[in-house]
Amino acid sequence: MTEQISTPSIQVKYRAEKLLNLAATTWLIATTIGQWAFGGYIIAFYGKSTALGDLEKWNQVLPHGYVKGDWTGNLVVGLHVLLAAVLVLGGPLQLLPVIRRSAPMFHRWLGRLYATTTVIVATGGLVMVWTRGAVGDLVQHVSISIQTIYIILFALLAWRYARAGRFDLHRKWALRLFMVVSGVWFFRIGLMCWLVLNGGPAGFDPKTFSGPFLTALAVLVYALPMPLGILELYFYAQKEAKRGITTAVALLIFVMTALMVIGIFGAIAGMWLPRIG
Ligand code: HEM
Repeated sequence: MTEQISTPSIQVKYRAEKLLNLAATTWLIATTIGQWAFGGYIIAFYGKSTALGDLEKWNQVLPHGYVKGDWTGNLVVGLHVLLAAVLVLGGPLQLLPVIRRSAPMFHRWLGRLYATTTVIVATGGLVMVWTRGAVGDLVQHVSISIQTIYIILFALLAWRYARAGRFDLHRKWALRLFMVVSGVWFFRIGLMCWLVLNGGPAGFDPKTFSGPFLTALAVLVYALPMPLGILELYFYAQKEAKRGITTAVALLIFVMTALMVIGIFGAIAGMWLPRIG
């Protein structure tokens, strides 16, 4: 009797878990494609111009990129944008289960490189915002600065738990680190998704790069990161394994992934390809 009652409910729960796994896999595939596209752009634009010694080309994109005579500042910018490629190309590799399983040594070395690079890139970014200035307004600058704190803290925790052999906690902190390090990427694809859906700029002034939409985006991506919140919901759904929660979180991830895909194609077609073309 008990079996007759529990079997269908176990099956439904199992289906909900499968749906959650499918949502996470779809999200990971979209994220990998989108971050590698960003990485390709970084290499093609900043890598190529730096290798050719044409540093002034940075200023086609960065208003305060190359400043003649300021070698320290230029070095900080150069390291920031070039090492960013390590993060967006290497980050998704760390998440692919097949690599963790088949090449654990590679995962460990890339992990060390990734964690160290996050700290260098985030600290460099912080220096750039407050010494050279950046596009956007004060709320955006403060928000991205708060993200630097998350990045450094989460990198330390992910590293510490890996060294301590607490791989359950390492996995959680490494995923949290990935979410905050990806903040600049989420910001770009969030913006491009918004532009595609609205058919052009809406809710902000493209000349000053400020306005309600950008304020909300900066806060929700950097200071109070929504991607981190969704990750926590994913952890919760995995832990609780309640059918309703698992299904709701899976659907939320599908919706976010659909918006991300729009943003990724918008960023590739409207931002990255035109700059390297
Ligand atoms: C950790 C992950 C990060 C990555 C992968 C990253 C990547 C990049 C890239 C590729 C650019 C060149 C802009 C472009 O061509 O689109 C850039 C610019 C910039 N980044 Fe980052 N960045 C990261 C974190 C940060 C942080 C945490 C800050 C600040 C606290 C920051 C501040 C800046 C600034 C000021 C610029 C110059 C553009 C501007 O004026 O806004 N970055 N970043």
